Amino acid sequence: MKIIAISGSLRPNSSNTALLYVVAKLAPKNLDLTIYKGLTDLPHFTPELDGDTLPTSVRDWRGLLEKCDGVIISTPEYAYGMPGVLKNALDWIVSSGELVGKPVATISASPSELGGSKAHASLVLTLAALAANLVEGGSVTIPFIGKKLNANGELTDLNTVQSLKFLLDALVRGIIDNRK
Ligand code: FNR
Repeated sequence: MKIIAISGSLRPNSSNTALLYVVAKLAPKNLDLTIYKGLTDLPHFTPELDGDTLPTSVRDWRGLLEKCDGVIISTPEYAYGMPGVLKNALDWIVSSGELVGKPVATISASPSELGGSKAHASLVLTLAALAANLVEGGSVTIPFIGKKLNANGELTDLNTVQSLKFLLDALVRGIIDNRK
């Protein structure tokens, strides 16, 4: 089972990226989870670039998504929405459709009490436009993230660890159902 994990944050000490590494550690051995690091390689989306001679970074991005069985996206909230780099990456697959029917799990994390819920909602809306398969139980919003991760990026809050385990299980179930 191959899963691509995407963080919407470019910060080296990103809490959202740290959460994806936690999920990777929770994953069983038969699950190949790769954290995508190419968001900044993607050019700004414009339909004029979306032709036969695609930028290599876009070809690679689409290829990764096409070949995987499922996707996890963890997003911060910037000004009540998902970061532009993440939206840009998703705009690149509107026409090509790599997420159509693909099982997807979503996370948002923020230092605020709302856990980036507006960014989460904007991500879910965009994924609906892409006809992604948002798996049941595969959605987590994490408030007060600064108090739950230590300096090494380890999750010290056991309830959140449990939530991420449930999210991963839900994604795996969604992938298995998708194969039937
Ligand atoms: C933020 N942050 C933020 N948080 C939030 O809950 N709602 C918001 O609208 C915003 N807006 C916002 C704008 C800008 C310009 C910055 C720099 C930050 C705070 C944000 O959630 C926080 O920095 C997170 O830690 C970012 O996630 P990563 O990078 O740790 O994954």
